[in-house]
Amino acid sequence: MNATAGKPQDRALPTHLLDLDTLAAKDILGLCDRAVQLRDTGSQAPAALQGMSVINLFFEGSTRTRSSFQLATERLGGRVLNFDVATSSTSKGETLLDTLKTLAAMSPDIFVVRHGTSGAANFVSQVLGEGFGIVNAGDGWHAHPTQGLADILTIREQLGDDWAQRRVVILGDILHSRTARSLVKGLSSLGTRDIRTVGPRTLQPARFEGVTMHSAVEDALPGADVVMALRLQRERMQRHSIPSQREYFELWGVTPERLDLAAPGAILMHPGPIGRGGDLASAAADGPASRIIEQVANGVAMRMAVLERIAGLLARQRKKGG
Ligand code: NCD
Repeated sequence: MNATAGKPQDRALPTHLLDLDTLAAKDILGLCDRAVQLRDTGSQAPAALQGMSVINLFFEGSTRTRSSFQLATERLGGRVLNFDVATSSTSKGETLLDTLKTLAAMSPDIFVVRHGTSGAANFVSQVLGEGFGIVNAGDGWHAHPTQGLADILTIREQLGDDWAQRRVVILGDILHSRTARSLVKGLSSLGTRDIRTVGPRTLQPARFEGVTMHSAVEDALPGADVVMALRLQRERMQRHSIPSQREYFELWGVTPERLDLAAPGAILMHPGPIGRGGDLASAAADGPASRIIEQVANGVAMRMAVLERIAGLLARQRKKGG
């Protein structure tokens, strides 16, 4: 696949969720409302995906994202095919395009795509077109919209809807984080203006629209009511971007003492996987401010809401088409 084949700025079709800039504030809040309703239905969730199949097309490792899409699909009565790259023809050199054509010929309904190349989900959506639902489950450094939505739901449940008053700090390896990029887009649509990033200069992008960048934790944290910590994504680092693990933790590690610099009642979030002891002290990860487990639960509920919405749009589209 050509690395520039996908054009992240392309507007997505309504049955495709490629990033959060295609959703208006009311769409984001509507999905949050629906996710809460679906979470509360427990085993009585509507069979919105009955007769439909979802292909989990994961070219990169994943624990919570893949399992949560699987559970979300099953709870809505759909079938899941987990495409395993290690045992697929990709390992025999098949291109992404050929893999897509092959899987599309089997008439699935929704593709959930994770890929190491930024723009991969946009590429998939251009190749497959409107007849399928496509959800970006993380492409390179670019976007991870359902994680951003689950994080927004978690913030909303803890702190309410005063989005213009929110002070959000994103701490750690910002440069490689698709989660940070989608979260900032979503929060910006909701009207949050005070979004700060903090981490080593080598792990922050040269420009990041909508955020104020800091390098010292002591400058970034005061007054924050949300602290989103991020993992050091070593697998994406080209060279040594940090002097040493020990020095990184000394300067940017999330500890209960550092969290005390934030506003009283501030919450700690992390999209996972957490780097216990590496970027996040256990006492912070398991402490009273932590909402990391709530984020995971909200991840399943939000993916149900997204899949239900796409299934509804597909069903309507097919009815119209005869
Ligand atoms: C993130 C991802 O894969 O983008 N995790 C996730 O989906 N929950 C962040 C990460 O890998 O560090």
